[in-house]
Amino acid sequence: MTENRTIYLDGVYTAYEGANVPTLRNISLEVREGEYVLVGGPNGAGKTTLLESIMGMLKITHGSASVCGLDVRKEGLQVRRKVGYVIQNFAFDPLTPYTAEQVVMMGRYGIMGCLKRPCKADFRAADQAMHLVGIEDLAAKPIGILSGGQQQKVLIAQNLAKEPSLLLLDEPFSNLDIAAREFITGILENIAGKGISIMMVSHAFDDLPDRDIRVLVMNDGNITYDAVSHPGDVEARVKSASGVV
Ligand SMILES: Nc1ncnc2c1ncn2[C@@H]1O[C@H](COP(=O)(O)OP(=O)(O)OP(=O)(O)O)[C@@H](O)[C@H]1O
Ligand SMILES: [Mg+2]
Repeated sequence: MTENRTIYLDGVYTAYEGANVPTLRNISLEVREGEYVLVGGPNGAGKTTLLESIMGMLKITHGSASVCGLDVRKEGLQVRRKVGYVIQNFAFDPLTPYTAEQVVMMGRYGIMGCLKRPCKADFRAADQAMHLVGIEDLAAKPIGILSGGQQQKVLIAQNLAKEPSLLLLDEPFSNLDIAAREFITGILENIAGKGISIMMVSHAFDDLPDRDIRVLVMNDGNITYDAVSHPGDVEARVKSASGVV
């Protein structure tokens, strides 16, 4: 049975352009609809590289990769239209000429086509996403003048507006205060309950959803740990699998 498989990687190797050796080596992974996956592991282990491979942004040199039923090696553009990805490091120039609302609306471009005008459904999805994340008051503000945490919320809303069946998040809590972390955790738990698969890279273990979480730990380009864990045990498992005593 493959229809409820959101991610299927089989023996995947990924290399950065110009690199002699692949960064990801022999990754096999299956993620099903509605799974909540936390990816841990030390700096440089390959966590971001894994997310970008799933998005079809990097060259997969060997192996097969299917995401939302699409062949990542051949249909990367389609994958990027369907999958939400909240990136790790972002910086908006203070003069970026878009409001927060326009940035959220960009999440709809893959659905409506970037040269088309947004229709009612696009406005509704963008409004709902901003409401869900609680940033309606920022809608008309230029993105570049918002704080790092506010910008991060806008990016999360942008990816929710995309109505993805898979949402990848790379350290989404890094700029968020305690209240915002708890709030976003609740949102993620809720959308996972609706069948959306979530894969989140995080070093923060205080704000995990109150449900069993699948924990992956990466070390040196490999997945070295993969097990379902109670939220209270996640930190200890990630530390132990990362070699931190
Ligand atoms: N653009 C790039 N070109 C070449 N090598 C890269 C590039 N980006 C990352 N790497 C290398 O790939 C390896 C994995 O990097 P990656 O960013 O995936 O790590 P990470 O697990 O996300 O780390 P962190 O916790 O610091 O975010 C590192 O050795 C890094 O130097
Ligand atoms: Mg990273």
